[in-house]
Amino acid sequence: MSANVADAADAAIEPVSFVKVPVPEPPTSLQKIIHDWQLIKHREGGYFKETDRSPLTMELEKPQIGNSGNTETVRRNQSTLIYYLLTPDSPIGKFHKNINRIIHILQRGKGQYVLVYPDGQVKSFRVGFDYKNGEVSQWVVPGGVFKASFLMPNEEFDNGLLISEVVVPGFDFEDHTFMKGEDELKSLVGAEKAAELAFLA
Ligand code: GUN
Repeated sequence: MSANVADAADAAIEPVSFVKVPVPEPPTSLQKIIHDWQLIKHREGGYFKETDRSPLTMELEKPQIGNSGNTETVRRNQSTLIYYLLTPDSPIGKFHKNINRIIHILQRGKGQYVLVYPDGQVKSFRVGFDYKNGEVSQWVVPGGVFKASFLMPNEEFDNGLLISEVVVPGFDFEDHTFMKGEDELKSLVGAEKAAELAFLA
């Protein structure tokens, strides 16, 4: 078993057909979860719902963008918790990063994560409960690291992937940044790797 992302087995990036060309509708079983739990479409792809936001808040010093050395005091909830679901009609979570580390806990299904570190290093690993074959069921993505995810086919959850994500301090759009398309990807990992990962940008 891998205790952290660095130890997770490296996996080749081989998206299946419904990742490259999403299907029009989720399977009925996943549609029911989306409906019953009132999940909504996420801007990065997939569906989500915030299920908890700590009522306690904290103040912290955050570096000001583009103003090296200067910080500003911001207030955040102490933690947030979400469900995040990938389905064959929305099978990709596109590259984005958060200032804070994000704890991921697998609930159902299978998927693959791709991380791009600030120095251009790429790490990809599979998530699932088959730990004997290198899958991990909990993983922590460090702050400042770009993350993307895509579905892996699986029978046990009708080709879905359901995870929980915990962020401390709690999620705030101010701490969140989308990758600026293939250009930013290319500047981080080079043209060849960027071509392989373009479907996630
Ligand atoms: N609102 C939009 N995206 C997110 C997210 O990833 N987490 C939380 N908690 N709220 C969000």
